[in-house]
Amino acid sequence: MKLDVLPSREKAIERASRLFIEKSEAHPNHAVGLATGSTMDGIYRLLNDWGYTPKTMHAFALDNYEGIKPDHKNSYLTELTEKFAEGLGWKGTLHVPGTENYRHASGPEEFELALRTHGPLSVQLLGLGTNGHIAFNEPGSPFDSRTRVVRLAEQTRSDNARFFSKEESVPTHAVTQGLATIRQATSLILIVLGERKKPALLEALETPRPEVPLAALLDHQDITIVTDLQL
Ligand code: GLP
Repeated sequence: MKLDVLPSREKAIERASRLFIEKSEAHPNHAVGLATGSTMDGIYRLLNDWGYTPKTMHAFALDNYEGIKPDHKNSYLTELTEKFAEGLGWKGTLHVPGTENYRHASGPEEFELALRTHGPLSVQLLGLGTNGHIAFNEPGSPFDSRTRVVRLAEQTRSDNARFFSKEESVPTHAVTQGLATIRQATSLILIVLGERKKPALLEALETPRPEVPLAALLDHQDITIVTDLQL
């Protein structure tokens, strides 16, 4: 595990963006793994500023809410279409759990199959929840978990309420790649920005218990944690 501590949020976003380009270009024919949320906004915005268009033709999302339509403003298909595909002028195929080919009961298995077909992902972008969740793998998620429907922790629902009109509108469930699914990527880049994430990151680094999702990834062959936290 490599820990990259940068002096500011901007420098951390720049470092993570350069790393994303480097890792994806090392295997340009392999799909990339995308994440959503405010941390990732900075990355997609910077890639756009640089005029960078990814070469891969397939990109896989980590997760998505259950029970909202694919064209809902909070669907991760909508978010990644706007910020990644349209934002970067990228014409490839977005694979988002719970949407399109993956919207039926067998969706999680179909998604895993597509990942195997187009994988291994050259690089997977990851964020960290304030409670330590990775994608929507909440604390206590099994290390051998695969893509599945999960119940969201109340902490996650209240953290993400800022993206919805009111907290009650935040879905109670999501569909997420499992921790074992995420581990399959050739490289992982975890970006952790801001003091509110510090307790979750410190807990994972200092006490990597089996209940801590990040503990499942710390011994990955190529994981870089990029942060603006002075640990
Ligand atoms: C969301 C996403 C995660 C993301 C995390 C952090 O709930 N499902 O994949 O990494 O929370 O989000 P943010 O960057 O907005 O803090």
